Amino acid sequence: MNTELAEVVRSLRQFLGENDMMAYLVMMSNRLLEMHRVLKPNGSLYLHCDPTASHYLKVVLDGVFGHENFVNEIVWKRTSSKSDHTQGAKHRPRIHDTILHFAKDVHAATFHTAFLELDEEYVRKKFPHNEPDGRRYGLWDMSGPGGAAKGNPSYEVMGITRFWRYSKARMEQMILDGLVVQPSPGSVPREKRYLDDSEGVAVGDVWTDISPINSQAAERLGYPTQKPLSLLERIVAASSNEGDVVLDPFCGCGTAVHAAQKLNRRWVGIDITHLAISLIEKRLKDAFKGIEFEVHGTPKDFEGAKNLAERDKYQFQWWACSLVNAQPYGGKKKGADGGVDGIMFFQDDIRGSTPKKIIVSVKGGENVGVTMVKDLIATIIRQKAEIGLFVTLNPPTKPMIAEAAAAGFYNSPASGSFPKIQILEIEKLIEGHDEARYPHLDAGSLTFKKAAIEHGEDKQVDLFAVPVKASAKKKKN
Ligand SMILES: C[S@@+](CC[C@H](N)C(=O)[O-])C[C@H]1O[C@@H](n2cnc3c(N)ncnc32)[C@H](O)[C@@H]1O
Repeated sequence: MNTELAEVVRSLRQFLGENDMMAYLVMMSNRLLEMHRVLKPNGSLYLHCDPTASHYLKVVLDGVFGHENFVNEIVWKRTSSKSDHTQGAKHRPRIHDTILHFAKDVHAATFHTAFLELDEEYVRKKFPHNEPDGRRYGLWDMSGPGGAAKGNPSYEVMGITRFWRYSKARMEQMILDGLVVQPSPGSVPREKRYLDDSEGVAVGDVWTDISPINSQAAERLGYPTQKPLSLLERIVAASSNEGDVVLDPFCGCGTAVHAAQKLNRRWVGIDITHLAISLIEKRLKDAFKGIEFEVHGTPKDFEGAKNLAERDKYQFQWWACSLVNAQPYGGKKKGADGGVDGIMFFQDDIRGSTPKKIIVSVKGGENVGVTMVKDLIATIIRQKAEIGLFVTLNPPTKPMIAEAAAAGFYNSPASGSFPKIQILEIEKLIEGHDEARYPHLDAGSLTFKKAAIEHGEDKQVDLFAVPVKASAKKKKN
C-alpha cells in the first residue's frame, strides 16, 4: 500500500473501528490500488457507489490517485422520488447514486464532452430573434470577464472601448462575418449566435436524464444491480477512444462490457460468480452476433467441472447452464419449481409471438438415475415447456437413455423434429462433441419478430423468471 493510502486507511480504522464498513473499505483499497497500477497514463477510473460509503471511498481514492486527480463527483438520479414519508420516514427520499471519477493524471486524461439538446425554455430565452429566412439567433455578451487580470485585450469596437473576450483580429473577422451586432446606436456590441450552430448543453455532473432499469425495461436481465446501458455508454464514451481497453473488475451482468463492445473498445470483465459470467456470455452472444471472446477461470475439462461441482453446487449449476446457452434460474433461493436450473426460449411459429420454453436440469452428482429423467419430464409438462435438457457431469445409465428416448419428439412447425428430452454430458459439451438441439431460426425466417443484433437483450428474459403462471393455472384445473 502506498504511504498516503496507508495513512487514510489507518485513520479510517481509528474512526470507524472494526466493522463491515471498514472491512469493505480495506477490500476496496487493495483493489483500487491495483486498478490504479494497471491504468494507462491517460486513463480514468469511475467508481459507482451509494451515499452510505461514497464519502469514505472518496477519501480512499484521494489516497490512491492523489486529490489533485479528482475529476468529478457525479450524481446519478437512479430512481423517482418515493413516498417513504407515508410510512413515517424522517428523511428526504434517497434517489441518487454517486459516481466518483478520478484520472491517473488529470492533465493527460482522455476526455470527450458530451452534449444534450437545449431545453425549450432555454432556447426561448436565449435565442429570441429570427433572421428573415427564419434562422434563429440570440445576442451574447462579449466582454472579457476579469478584465486585464485575466489577459483580456482592450480595444474599441463600434465606438465602445472595453475588455473583450476575443483578440482584435478575431473580432474584426467576426464583424466581417456579420456576427457582431450593435443593438442600438452607442450600445455595447454583442455577439450573434445561431441556434443551429449550438452543440447543445454540455452534460454536467448531475445526471437526471438516464432512467433506471425498471421492471418493464427491454434491457432488463433480472440481475439485481444491473445498470442502464446508456449510463455506461456515457462513461465509456467520455473517457476512452475506440480501441482503448475498458476494465470492469466487478462486472455483474456485464453492462460496462456491453457498452465497451458497442463502442468498439476492447474490454476485460471480472466477476467472482459463475452466475454473472454465464449471464454475460449469453448477453454478449445475443447482442453481438458472431462475437468472439475468451473466458478464463471456468472449468475446461471433466476434472475442472467435478472440482467446481464439489466446491459449490450453485456456481456449478450456473456455469453448466452457460454450456447450453441457458439463463440460470433461481439463485440460491428455492425456486418456484425445484426441477428448474436454467431456462431458454425460442420462437419457431409465425402464427404467434409467444416464445416457447426449454427447461434445463443440471446434475453434478455421481448417482444419476432414471427417476431424475422422469422428474424432468414431469417438470416440462408442468411448465408447458417444449424441450427438457438434462445436463449431467456423470454418464447416464441405460434406463435413463431409454426413458429420454421414450419421451418422443418436439415437432417444430418451421424446422423439423427435436428430441423432447436430451441428456447432455458435460464433458462432451465442453469438447464440442455434443450440443443442445432446438429450433434455431434466422431473423429472416420469422416475420413477426425481428431478432435485433446489438439490441439482442430485447429478447432476453428475466434471469429468475420462470413462468409459474402455467403451473398455477394447471393446478386450478
Ligand atoms: C454491484 S455489482 C456490479 C453491477 C454491474 N455494474 C452491472 O451493471 O451489472 C457487483 C458485482 O461484483 C461481484 N463481486 C463481488 N465481489 C467480487 C470480487 N471480490 N471480485 C470480483 N467480483 C466480485 C458480484 O458478484 C457482483 O456481480
